Amino acid sequence: MKEKLIQRYSAAERINHWVVAWCFILLAISGLAFFYPAFFWLTGVFGTPQLARMLHPFIGVVMFVGFLVQFFRYYHHNFIDQEDVEWMKAVGTVMKGHEVGDIGRYNGGQKGMFWLMSICMLVLLATGLVIWRQYFAGFFPIPVIRIALLLHAASAIALIAGIIVHVYAALWVKGTIRAMAEGVVTHAWARKHHPRWFREMTGRK
Ligand code: HEM
Repeated sequence: MKEKLIQRYSAAERINHWVVAWCFILLAISGLAFFYPAFFWLTGVFGTPQLARMLHPFIGVVMFVGFLVQFFRYYHHNFIDQEDVEWMKAVGTVMKGHEVGDIGRYNGGQKGMFWLMSICMLVLLATGLVIWRQYFAGFFPIPVIRIALLLHAASAIALIAGIIVHVYAALWVKGTIRAMAEGVVTHAWARKHHPRWFREMTGRK
């Protein structure tokens, strides 16, 4: 029997997502290399340490712009309501494989992650500009650059931790990767994980 599918992401949305994701991977690799001496060898991914140092902020700007497009695509799906609070309180039950509540397009965890990503992106851009030696750092006093460096590293660590959870959830919930790879999900996936969204998409009661 042919499985019934629902479109979840268009090709443009998927390209947008994977551009952001690849930028993130390159930024995390080069950022960790600058942050901690034991990871310095990771600059080899870019050819030379100098190239990594030069490219990191430019890739950061591409990631920010890519995420900004994602932000305006999805923010209205990510407002947290009472249903999501219930989901968050019962996250232990969800982890055991039982869904909680009448979930719409995204669940409480995904919505929380969306806002964490948004805050981190904003802090990373603002502080990244302040510490961008070649163009902007000269305009700021050293104490401001120091605070910006600290906030840049803190928000990068928060984002890396968040993305580890995001990727784990994407792989752990069977059928989710397909949403971002092929753009579609099965009726069974939607009915189980996002029942309210399923009804909205199919017009079923
Ligand atoms: C690196 C590996 C990544 C994988 C495997 C991955 C996978 C996925 C998948 C499967 C979805 C669809 C979830 C669903 O529709 O229920 C998704 C959604 C999404 N992803 Fe990723 N992702 C990755 C990295 C990132 C990064 C680095 C960002 C941005 C910082 C990001 C931002 C988003 C956003 C904004 C959504 C829409 C969810 C929402 O609006 O709440 N992803 N991702």
